[in-house]
This record gives sequence, structure tokens and C-alpha cells, in this order.
Amino acid sequence: MRSSLLKVLGALLICSGSAVAQTTITVDLNNTSANPTISKYIYSHFAEHLGRGIYDGFYVGDTSKIPNTNGVRNDVVAALRKMKIPSLRWPGGCFADTYHWRDGIGPKDKRPAIVNKWWGGVVEDNSFGTHDFLNMCELLGAEPYVSGNVGSGTVQELADWIQYTGSDNKNPMSDLRKANGRDKPWSVKFWGVGNEAWGCGGNMTPEYYANEFRKYATFMGSSEGKTKLFRVASGASDDDYNWTETLMKNIPHHLIEGVAVHHYAVIGWEKKGPATGFTEEQYFTTMQRALQMDTLVTRHARIMDKYDPKKQIALVVDEWGGWYDVEPGTNPGFLYQQNTMRDAMIAGTTLNIFNNHADRVRMANLAQCINVLQAVILTNKQKMILTPTYYVMEMYNVHQDATLLPTKVSETDYAFGNEKLPAVSASASKDKAGVVHISLTNIDPSKKQKITLKLNGQNFKGVSGRILTSAKTGDCNTFNAPDKIKAVAFNGAVLKGNTLEVTLPAISVAVLTLN
Ligand code: AHR
Repeated sequence: MRSSLLKVLGALLICSGSAVAQTTITVDLNNTSANPTISKYIYSHFAEHLGRGIYDGFYVGDTSKIPNTNGVRNDVVAALRKMKIPSLRWPGGCFADTYHWRDGIGPKDKRPAIVNKWWGGVVEDNSFGTHDFLNMCELLGAEPYVSGNVGSGTVQELADWIQYTGSDNKNPMSDLRKANGRDKPWSVKFWGVGNEAWGCGGNMTPEYYANEFRKYATFMGSSEGKTKLFRVASGASDDDYNWTETLMKNIPHHLIEGVAVHHYAVIGWEKKGPATGFTEEQYFTTMQRALQMDTLVTRHARIMDKYDPKKQIALVVDEWGGWYDVEPGTNPGFLYQQNTMRDAMIAGTTLNIFNNHADRVRMANLAQCINVLQAVILTNKQKMILTPTYYVMEMYNVHQDATLLPTKVSETDYAFGNEKLPAVSASASKDKAGVVHISLTNIDPSKKQKITLKLNGQNFKGVSGRILTSAKTGDCNTFNAPDKIKAVAFNGAVLKGNTLEVTLPAISVAVLTLN
């Protein structure tokens, strides 16, 4: 009786619009030694030869007036280093299964120009190739994740690429690399074996692809030089659980280190809706799609558990993010979209999901890094802006390689029409220095949250924090107002014993630090 009265009162308060919702979160700090580590690779990115992602984004060429190092923009390098980009996937995407790596090595004026048939039919002059990418990764301090061509390539081509990049022995591939100016091999651990093999990668069945994978993985080998390879199978689209099941069943486990899955927060493939100026209904639906990631990861992981109970094979979400209509007036094949607080909400909630599934999700790549889909950076000639998503990635980097701390969030609804979503999400970790970080999101566009955070098992001396918030879900940074949204100090958390009282504004992402 008492509890139903409270529920009615709560609902009345919420309907009044001025109400503050109440949430309780517990963080379990006891016995952390068996907890999984949050792999830093969960915070990885993706750069495809698509639109202005590589050309105009990362790469402007060494004759550009824009300050650069071997053609790569210095401002981009500085921003991504600050964000702590751990790994970058390249050259696609769908482009990867059309890409022949030999086109992108040797003197630039001798490289063949090809047509980028997936993305706008534009000329790809191959001026950004293997050396450019791997040297750029060194500048960024990021590990390369190279997607091999299975759809239109050959096993030999991929085996040669691995040898070209990684071998120090005397052989035709390392001789060729040396002749092209790179004496020392690079260390390329992550290799994708095709991309979206069920679609643009060749429209294969899972059974057929599993056989292809077995063949490719065999001739790729398990190591090159001193580098142990991490071979990632092209994974399911969204809830195609049969794809994961077939791969886990049909691929011998000594040949595979990761299975991918792709999921985009898209309202509908026919009608995606605008990146800015969207309605609350569109916002709600986007968040619904984004939060589906939890179910997808849980169910793909459950299938993997059946075949790999020791969790040796990683689930690699190597494409995720918001996907909307392109900006008016831009090439529809370039997938250029603005990035708003809605995207910050997608990033904050999705990264919390990945952190909380750190036992199985050990890599994830936001699509895509610059000027494409949910980008962390947008460029316009000399100018560069950091998007709300950038700040989420940068604030959350404290979780990289930290120990996961289990969290429980009480039910708090963000309701729209007859439907509802959890308004608050959280994840927590303890880093190697013993510092605890808690990341929180409030996706509700109008209600702030009063959160009681119970810290079970440890006492702390102090709390500090940073927050990203703005008045409207559609707010964004523009080339005229580049700093409208950025992470700032957060003073809304008060430590009382081992409880934190937090007031989290509507539409916000915060990261708390406890010492
Ligand atoms: O990220 C854009 C495209 O989306 C990728 O090329 C493809 O893998 C996916 O369908």
C-alpha cells in the first residue's frame, strides 16, 4: 500500500516537469581481484577511406599550408593524443574489401588512381597508403587495426601484407618495404579478416564465411616477427545471433582471437532523420537504438560463453555510433553529419555498457573518427572542432586498462509517450594507482537526477569531477562557435562518509574521481 502510494506521488512529481528524479547507485569495491580489466581498446576508433575521413580529415598532404607532419594534420594528432586514442581501424569498412594494399605503397606519383565504388564514386588516388597509415599510428601513439580484403582479395595478398608490415627476415615482402623507405618493421597486432561478410564484404552465408576465415587465418599465421596476431572475424549485424553461433561453432579456436559485431543507433535505414534540429521523438528513438547495445552484447556474449566458457575470444564491436541524414548540401556518399549532445548521450551510455561487459567486450571502434558519422573531430579547411563525443571519449579515458567495479542502478525512467528508457547509466573502475572513477549519464532532456551513490567496501577522502552538459539535446559545436560545449569542472558531488550525493543535470555526462 505504502509503496504504491509512493509510486503515485513519484509519478505526479515527474509529470509536473519541475520534479527532480531520485536514483540510487551502488558501487561494489569489495574483493576486486577477480574483476575483469576494462581493455583500453574499448576506446578505439575507425577511419575509412570514406568522404572526408582520411583526405581532408587526417591527411592533407605534406605540401598543405595546414601545419602537418608527413601530411597528417598536427592539430588532429594533438587532439587524438590528448583523448588517448588506443587503436585505429583502417582502411574500412566496406572499402576494405575493395582495397588492394599494393596500390598504396611506393612513390606517390606512381600509385594508381581507383574509383571508391562504395563511397560517392570519387577518385581515390592512393596517396594515403600503408606507410602513411602505420607512421600516422606511431604519431598518434595508437595501435593499428588493419582490415584485410577477403571479398575481392586473395589469401596470398593478405599474407603478404602481414609479412610486408611485420617481417624482419630476408624475404621479398620485407625487402620491398625496405626499398620503400621503412627499414624496421611495424608491429601490427590487430587484423580484421574482411568486413561485413554478410553484406558489402561479399554477401556470404555464415557457413561459407567461416570456411573462408579458416583458410585466411591459417595462412596469416598466429604471429609475424615478434608480434602475436589478433585475428578478428567479420561479425554479425545487430541481432544476427546465428552468425555468431556459426562462427563460434565452425572456426577452430586456435585460429581466432576476436569475433566482431556492428550496431548503429539509426532510427530507420530509409528515414534516418537529421543530425540536428531533431524532435524529442527522434531523440528518444535514437537512444532506444543505442541502448539496445546492452541486449546485443549480452546475447552475443552468451552464445560465445557456450563455446568458449573461458572467454578467450573477444567480442569486438568494431563499428558503433549514431547514423543520421548527411548535412544538407553535402555528398550523400560522404556520410558527413553534425554531432550534438544526443551523440554525447550515445557515447556515454554505450561506453558504460562496454565497460560493464569488459569480461567479453575487449575492443570497440566508434564509427568514425573524423568528418564521418559520429565523429570526434570535424574539420573545415584550416579549422578543426572537437565534438561533444570527443569530450566524452576524453573524460572516459580514465577507465582504460582499469579494473571494473560492478555497479547497480535503481530504476529511473525517461518516459516518452507510452515508452520509457532508463534515464541514468553508470560504470566504475579502479585504476592502477588505486583511484576510483565513476562515469554517469542522464539522458533525460528535462529532468535532473538526485543520485545517492553508495560506495560499498572502501572509504574515500575526497571527490572531484568533470561534466559535459548543455541546455538542449540538439546543441553542438560549430566552426563559428567551437567551444559552446566542452567538459568543465563538476561540483555537483558531495562526499558524506561512504555515500556520494550527486545532482546530475538533464542531458549530461559526468566522470567522478575518488581518492
Ligand atoms: O561506417 C560506414 C559503413 O558502415 C562501413 O563501411 C560498413 O562496414 C558499415 O556498413
